[in-house]
Amino acid sequence: MDIRGKVVLVTGANRGLGKAFVTALLEAGAAKVYAGARNPASVDIPGSTPVALDITDAASVQHAAEQCSDVSVVINNAGFLQYGSLLAEDSVENLQQHFDVNTFGTLRVSRAFAPTLARQGGGALINVLSVLSWLSPPGAGGYSTSKSAQWGLTNGLRGELRSQGTLVIGVHPAYIDTDMVADVQAPKSTPQEVVALTLQALAEDREEVLVSDTSHGVKASLSTDSPVYLNH
Ligand SMILES: NC(=O)c1ccc[n+]([C@@H]2O[C@H](COP(=O)([O-])OP(=O)(O)OC[C@H]3O[C@@H](n4cnc5c(N)ncnc54)[C@H](OP(=O)(O)O)[C@@H]3O)[C@@H](O)[C@H]2O)c1
Repeated sequence: MDIRGKVVLVTGANRGLGKAFVTALLEAGAAKVYAGARNPASVDIPGSTPVALDITDAASVQHAAEQCSDVSVVINNAGFLQYGSLLAEDSVENLQQHFDVNTFGTLRVSRAFAPTLARQGGGALINVLSVLSWLSPPGAGGYSTSKSAQWGLTNGLRGELRSQGTLVIGVHPAYIDTDMVADVQAPKSTPQEVVALTLQALAEDREEVLVSDTSHGVKASLSTDSPVYLNH
């Protein structure tokens, strides 16, 4: 898909990867970019159109879908990470919080915007997943489990949206240099690198983006006798 002249919605657009998406989309010639944010006043991206959007709130999602009735590309970027053991006393609450944002939030937005994408001739739905869709390191079980489910959701949506011509793209980054992993000392992609690879996939109508060697290595290991998820 050629992004020039298209109208796009990005969730979680006030900072981190979402902000980089909005900036790059405007530079690439998108006609309008809605910057979805829980607090739209926190969006400081010249040329963007801030929109109030809390993806855990069905009414907020519905209201945004009514406001942004001209979009042909939706980027489910908003996400949540809070470390915690799966064996901790509050692990059910921890998983519920992760699922509410990462998995059900993506579902709420995808469902609300599917008719809009159909009206625009199909368009594209881009879901920001993770390399942790495929492994679950100790301490990040809630996040990883929700990202695995979000990957399954993305695959299910791809099948269901095929008949209306919507391209569904899953993006699997490893560490990205944002607030989410500010405390992690490890090699990280820049948000701009993740965005560039994603927009390249969109331009080439490709359905999966493996960001960095880590993502390529983890995916490749899945079909071997020693998949990475057994060794974490
Ligand atoms: N950073 C990484 O290493 C990494 C790696 C792989 C995948 N990812 C994925 O990349 C995406 C972007 O993450 P990031 O690194 O940019 O994280 P971030 O810097 O922590 O930003 C998260 C964004 O999501 C928004 N958000 C959280 N809950 C929301 C809700 N209920 N409704 C609407 N927006 C909400 C935040 O808004 P507020 O400002 O209001 O909190 C913020 O804009 C996420 O899906 C994340 O899982 C990140």
